[in-house]
Amino acid sequence: MSNGDVSQGRRRFLIGATSVVGGVGVVGAAVPFVASWNPSAKAEAAGAPVTVNVSKIEPGQQITAEWRGKPVWIVRRTEQMLENIEKLNDEVKDPQSEAPQQPQYIEGIYRSIKPEFAVIVGLCTHLGCVPSYRPEVAPADLGEDWLGGFFCPCHGSHYDLAGRVYQAQPAPLNLEVPPYRFDDDATLTIGLDPEAA
Ligand code: FES
Repeated sequence: MSNGDVSQGRRRFLIGATSVVGGVGVVGAAVPFVASWNPSAKAEAAGAPVTVNVSKIEPGQQITAEWRGKPVWIVRRTEQMLENIEKLNDEVKDPQSEAPQQPQYIEGIYRSIKPEFAVIVGLCTHLGCVPSYRPEVAPADLGEDWLGGFFCPCHGSHYDLAGRVYQAQPAPLNLEVPPYRFDDDATLTIGLDPEAA
């Protein structure tokens, strides 16, 4: 894989950055979010926080916001997804995410403030491609042990649904978790720490 291929992956993100990615069968439900997280271009360029309405994200659905020029995924995880993350503790390199790939107030295997909502920077820690959301269990191309997660098409790194990288992958680290906080049950802001933190 050449650097050209990697930058192509980034370019694909830039082209698709304003789109919202839905899980299987829920694409249509995602449209209302676009208006709610679209700051002015000037504010975005300055790295301003981005506010996202999470109330209409369906269980199992992923949406993508943009913060500081990066894709930030928000996935509403089901109970089954959370159980599957737990089952993978022995399969991932850094199950408790001891490497500083998240703010200090994010702890534990789910790597989130609320287990239900994953908030993850969607750039592979190998060379920065955008991994694909693959929530299905045991798809033919990823094998019968696959319990849902993210797959990087550039060099094949596998991550679970908490963004933890599996062992023996090209990617060295778990996916990054950005600073964020919940303003209320329906709203989270990426780029601001919780007031208590
Ligand atoms: S960029 Fe190489 S595996 Fe993701």
